[in-house]
Amino acid sequence: MRILIIGSGGREDAIAWKLQQNPRVEKILIKSSSLSIEELLQIAKEEKIDFTMVGSEELLVKGIVDVFQKENMTIFGPNQQAAMLEGSKAFSKDFMKKYGVKTAKYETFQRVEEALAYVEGEEYPLVVKASGLAAGKGVIICQRVEEAKKAIQEIMVEKVFQEAGSEVVIEEFLEGVEASILSITDSNVILPFISAKDHKKIGEKETGLNTGGMGVIAPNPYVTEEVYEAFQKDILEPTLKGIKAEGMKFAGIIFFGLMITKKGVYLLEYNMRMGDPETQAVLPLLESDFLEMLEDALAGTLDSEKIKWSKDSSCCVVLASGGYPVSYQKGYEIHGLDEVEQHVFFAGVKQENGKYYNNGGRVLNIVATAPTLDEAIQKAYIDIQKVSFQDSYYRKDIGKLYSEIIVF
Ligand code: AMP
Ligand code: GLY
Repeated sequence: MRILIIGSGGREDAIAWKLQQNPRVEKILIKSSSLSIEELLQIAKEEKIDFTMVGSEELLVKGIVDVFQKENMTIFGPNQQAAMLEGSKAFSKDFMKKYGVKTAKYETFQRVEEALAYVEGEEYPLVVKASGLAAGKGVIICQRVEEAKKAIQEIMVEKVFQEAGSEVVIEEFLEGVEASILSITDSNVILPFISAKDHKKIGEKETGLNTGGMGVIAPNPYVTEEVYEAFQKDILEPTLKGIKAEGMKFAGIIFFGLMITKKGVYLLEYNMRMGDPETQAVLPLLESDFLEMLEDALAGTLDSEKIKWSKDSSCCVVLASGGYPVSYQKGYEIHGLDEVEQHVFFAGVKQENGKYYNNGGRVLNIVATAPTLDEAIQKAYIDIQKVSFQDSYYRKDIGKLYSEIIVF
């Protein structure tokens, strides 16, 4: 079996590592998601690819799955209609409302004057979001009406997120802790993976700028049994009902971005692909075969009995280039990789003549698993201290919990 994985981050490296465990896999080709759908289709045909998996959202929203399927190529992921659950926040919020998925109260606007008038009468903080894809940057939390007006101005008039900002979603601010629950669906069932906790800020104690994610622990300690039941009843079940009622037919991932609050569990957003770096922490805990799971989803025969998760915990720490997420230097040699005992997944790494160099903002991930979370954290940190390059940076507090477990 010849597999094509589209995307070149740590997530895709982890997907490749896991798929490789299936003895039917002969070759895995990884291609950048900056190529066009047509270029990727051509590569898939030339390389006689049997199975394609897409890591990131842009190409899914552009309809790569529909194009490949029309050419009778096997591809895992949502078609364009289902990908809109991530591609348009206005669409996904309307879907949530229609099917009773618990989410923050909101309004959507396509006209600037109406958005500006609306924020006058709202309570603060208030959240202003560009509706379209904005690489995780299109969400602005506003403390006062002036900030909300400025956010609307930037998104809708100055178009700082380009066309993603031709519509805005303005919603109630939710206070709580976040959780990521990835899942797989064949449109008949949705089977959740082990929960995960991302660490989005660059600085310790969740300070400073937002990043793509600086580390993850799994399972997420805030996802108690009570939280999990609320998630199933208030979010997963109505989502499945909506998928069926809308006639969405696809095999893909649904990543639920959750906010756990004192008033229950809310859905912030759907992502229709695996998370980065959630994937790197979650896949090492999957004991069953990943390729077979994806194939079952495509065949419409997903079966919870066949999917086995380890009882262990895992910790993923991201090693980044100094200066990320703003500006950073590339091309420094990475030292110490030989001494690492845990999993290493490459994100922004260039290999040349047997040497490794940093080549992106997030450079690599160290992932450890162990019977307890504390041990997993300890093992990951022992290893990441062995790896370095000039100005390399990692957060020292991945897995540290700064808020109480929420009870509602
Ligand atoms: P989103 O892309 O919608 O998940 O938003 C990105 C981030 O903004 C989330 O991970 C949260 O940290 C924050 N966020 C989004 N919506 C809200 C909300 N309604 N209340 C509080 N924080 C939010
Ligand atoms: N780690 C968050 C995401 O993949 O969107």
